[in-house]
Amino acid sequence: MKIGFIGTGMMGLPMAKRLLNANYQLVVYNRTKSKAEELLNKGALWANNPKEVAEQSEVVISMISDTGVLKEISISNDGVIKGLSTIHIDMSTVSPEMTLQLYYQYKKHQKNFMHSPVLGSVQNVIEGSLLIFVGGDKEVYEKCEHIFRSLGKKIYFFEDIKKAGYLKLLANQFIATMIISLSQGFIIADKAGISIDTVLDVLSESTLNSAMYQIKGRSIKEGNYTPRFMTKHLLKDINLIIDAACNLNVELPIMKKVQDLFEEAIKKGLAEEDYSSIYKILKKV
Ligand SMILES: NC(=O)c1ccc[n+]([C@@H]2O[C@H](COP(=O)([O-])OP(=O)(O)OC[C@H]3O[C@@H](n4cnc5c(N)ncnc54)[C@H](OP(=O)(O)O)[C@@H]3O)[C@@H](O)[C@H]2O)c1
Repeated sequence: MKIGFIGTGMMGLPMAKRLLNANYQLVVYNRTKSKAEELLNKGALWANNPKEVAEQSEVVISMISDTGVLKEISISNDGVIKGLSTIHIDMSTVSPEMTLQLYYQYKKHQKNFMHSPVLGSVQNVIEGSLLIFVGGDKEVYEKCEHIFRSLGKKIYFFEDIKKAGYLKLLANQFIATMIISLSQGFIIADKAGISIDTVLDVLSESTLNSAMYQIKGRSIKEGNYTPRFMTKHLLKDINLIIDAACNLNVELPIMKKVQDLFEEAIKKGLAEEDYSSIYKILKKV
C-alpha cells in the first residue's frame, strides 16, 4: 500500500521510518524538506504539498504540530482534501471539535477523516509500543487497521471521533500534573538535603512509581532538557484540555495554575526544550 505522510518532525520521522521498514511505499511532505531527507534516501518519494501527497497515495497520515496546521494541510487549496486519496488519518494532538468538523467536511467530498492521536514518545515509536486512540468510521478503521498495528502495541477504537481526542487530552493531563508533582518533590528534597536518587528510589519501591517519573527524574538530575516532547506542545495540550473541560462542563482549577506555569516557561525561552524543563520555573533557576 502507498501511504502519504505529512509532517516529519520529532514523532513523524520515526513513525514514517517504521512504515518504510514495514514495507509500505511512502510519499512524504514536510514544510522543511531537509527533515524528510533521511526518508527520501531510504526510498520514499517527495511531494511538493499535501494535495500532491494525496494525489499519489491511497491513505494519507499526518503528524503535525497543532490544530491550525491540521486545518491548513487538510482544507486549504493545496490541502489533502483536494487530492485523490479517500482516507486521511491525522495522528497529532489537536482539538476534538476540529476533528469532528473535518470529519463532516471530508464526508461532503465523499472522503474519510479519522483522528488517531498517540500516547508515547519517540522511544515508543522506535519500539512499536505506542498506544493509539482511533476515532472515526468502523469500516474505514478496518481498512487501515494494519497500518495502526505496524505503529503501535494497542489500539482503542471509538466510532465517535471526538472520543479519541478526549482520551488523548485526558492522558496528557496526567503528564502535565505529574511533571509538576515530580519537580515539587525534587525541590522539597533539595531544601531538606535529600538526594534526587533517594526520591527516585522511594518512588520505584512504592506504588507511586511510573516510568515517566524515572525517565524525566534522571533527565532533571542530569540537567538534560533535550526535547523529546517540547514545552510549547505540552502548553498547546494544556490549552486544549482546558477548552475540552469547558465543552464538557467540567471544572479543572489545577490546570489553570499549570497553564500559568507553562506560559511562564515559554516567556522564559523554554518553548523548544523538553517539557521537564518546567522544573527550572518551579525551582526559579
Ligand atoms: N513528541 C512527543 O513525544 C509527542 C508524543 C505524542 C504526541 N505528540 C504530538 O504529535 C504532534 C507532533 O509532535 P512532534 O513532537 O513531532 O513536534 P515537532 O517536532 O515540532 O513537529 C511538528 C511538525 O509539524 C510541522 N509544522 C509545524 N508548523 C507548521 C506549519 N505552519 N505548516 C506546516 N507544517 C508545520 C513541522 O514542520 P517543520 O519540520 O517544517 O517545522 C513538523 O513536521 C504534536 O501534535 C504533538 O503534540 C508528540
